[in-house]
Amino acid sequence: MKFFVDTAEVDAIAELNALGMVDGVTTNPSLIAKSGRDILEVTKEICDMVEGPVSAEVVALEADAMIAEGRKLAEIAENIAVKVPLTWDGLKACKVLSDEGKMVNVTLCFSANQALLAAKAGATFISPFIGRLDDINIDGLDLIEDIRTIYDNYGFDTQILAASIRTANHMAECAKIGADVATAPPAVIKNMANHVLTDKGLAGFLADIEKAGIKIV
Ligand code: E4P
Repeated sequence: MKFFVDTAEVDAIAELNALGMVDGVTTNPSLIAKSGRDILEVTKEICDMVEGPVSAEVVALEADAMIAEGRKLAEIAENIAVKVPLTWDGLKACKVLSDEGKMVNVTLCFSANQALLAAKAGATFISPFIGRLDDINIDGLDLIEDIRTIYDNYGFDTQILAASIRTANHMAECAKIGADVATAPPAVIKNMANHVLTDKGLAGFLADIEKAGIKIV
């Protein structure tokens, strides 16, 4: 499973990138607003830093305007994936931009039917939102499983980009289901390294190291 980092904070991306943990980046208008940076400037900086796809989201609601914004975003760098919302207009924009050879990430997906439409419209990525479904007591992981089944049934190339990930557990579950990509905030990715038994084991070893005076260098 590829790891995308769900942030527009360049320092956090750089830290994970240095460890080889970054296969791509996703941003959205909320994350850009949180960074306090200009969208074109910060997106260019991220594209220069990361080799994989960098999702940048349109802000228009109507298809022609989304297409114009998508074309402008795609000019930033070759690794831009234009992000459009899963509305009827978003699907129209997806089809046009995909036919032009641009990567398109269709976002705000909350149902298997929406994912089916995005694949038909030529999406490179479909972004089902796990956490926001969990927030309303619907199991978001079930949606990832359903989309996996549908895409495999018909051999769709659209990659499942599990989004709105809130916990390290979501990451392991997505990998078990076979999501192609998971995008998570830096803190969630770092939290994947934590285990209480690792901490306990290390405390025991440290006590023995001190007692025995073990030194290596
Ligand atoms: C990424 O593409 C999505 O925009 C993001 O994962 C949404 O996450 P949130 O539901 O935590 O805002």
